[in-house]
Amino acid sequence: MSNIHFNVQPGGKLQGTIRVPGDKSISHRSIMLGSLAEGTTQVSGFLQGDDCLATLNAFRSMGVEIEGPENGNVTIHGVGLHGLKAPAGDLYMGNSGTSIRLMSGLMAGQNFAVTMTGDRSLSKRPMKRVTIPLSQMGAVIETAEGGTPPLHIKAGNKLTGIHYDLPVASAQVKSCVLLAGLYAEGETSVTEPAPTRDHTERMLRGFGYEVITEDNTIKLTGGGKLTASNIDVPSDISSAAFFMVGASIAEGSDLTLQHVGINPTRTGVIDILRLMGADIELSNKTEIGGEPVADIRIRSAKLKGIQIPESLVPLAIDEFPALFIAAASAEGKTILTGAEELRVKESDRIQVMADGLNTCGVNAKPTPDGIIIQGGNFSGGEIESHDDHRIAMSFTIAGLCASKEININNCNNVDTSFPNFVELAASVGINVKQFPYKLNI
Ligand code: S3P
Repeated sequence: MSNIHFNVQPGGKLQGTIRVPGDKSISHRSIMLGSLAEGTTQVSGFLQGDDCLATLNAFRSMGVEIEGPENGNVTIHGVGLHGLKAPAGDLYMGNSGTSIRLMSGLMAGQNFAVTMTGDRSLSKRPMKRVTIPLSQMGAVIETAEGGTPPLHIKAGNKLTGIHYDLPVASAQVKSCVLLAGLYAEGETSVTEPAPTRDHTERMLRGFGYEVITEDNTIKLTGGGKLTASNIDVPSDISSAAFFMVGASIAEGSDLTLQHVGINPTRTGVIDILRLMGADIELSNKTEIGGEPVADIRIRSAKLKGIQIPESLVPLAIDEFPALFIAAASAEGKTILTGAEELRVKESDRIQVMADGLNTCGVNAKPTPDGIIIQGGNFSGGEIESHDDHRIAMSFTIAGLCASKEININNCNNVDTSFPNFVELAASVGINVKQFPYKLNI
């Protein structure tokens, strides 16, 4: 595949009304639960990005009949919790941490062995965080040296429910343990150190499975069944975040993002931007399939640097690359602490963002668990995305506050979460071009 890069010319403002693609977390879970349910599940608004397609293809290769995706519509003919078949080869998860970590919980409960692999970014990411609790439940899983993929999950080990205190605030680990709990004897419970996205719990309940949440402990009992349920996937607030930041920092902007998921475990980006002085208005609030959604209107505002409250970190965990651009264009200093998890995302997002900001003339100092950014004076330059979609998209919106052009290398992975990003960004006023040109537009 050729190396796609973006060229962003400085300036511009964001105007109009757009709908960003479907939520990545909910799209993954719709395929997983739809496949394991009894009956047919219709999904609309499914994110046709590479990450969710990796999950979809994995279930197809385990014998699940799945129609689509076509314009976000997917029909899944569920096989029940015990209806999967051994795949002919390894399951390739591409760039997707959500696929490999959530599915490791499900695969631990099967009566066939599975090997899960990933691309060069995923192959560096920590998997002990899931193999440790799964082995406590009785699973036998081998990793590469250092606890990274590939994961070899042995067949037919009987799982027993455990209580697990999550050492990190991670929805992927929480979900992995709960999904393994569907196959375990007795009760499985997890206690989280801070609230993380709760899409797994909400969707399990939507599929008729009892999940009990008491304070920060979530529990379920194995041996039940999932009943098919239709899912309308809202737009992804993590994709919306680029435009929320962009419209805030570009003078004269007035942008509306429609039908965005505003699950309270995901809205840290709105809270942080508001603390910085952003002008964000929510309207048309409703609930669709157990998930709250709203339209979000953003008008440009003078942002100021802040100390980001640590309690908001897990609620905005994927939005920090975009928020660092907001901080870089704000007046004063922004300080982030308690965010060491950013170092083990698709790239080391603290270091990679600090490097990119420094390249653009911004004073950004990485710390072990965060960053200190002195706002003002954003020039431009050549940025390495390190295979990380959110780094590429963050420096694209940075063009709005830059004084020189920005070139971003290795943008192929933008397709993992936001396949039409360049077209949508250009349509609302960002001066971005993709090279080589896309042939299908
Ligand atoms: C996700 C959880 C988060 C997030 C990721 C999606 C999920 O990861 O960063 O993009 O769908 O459960 P962690 O659980 O590692 O924080």
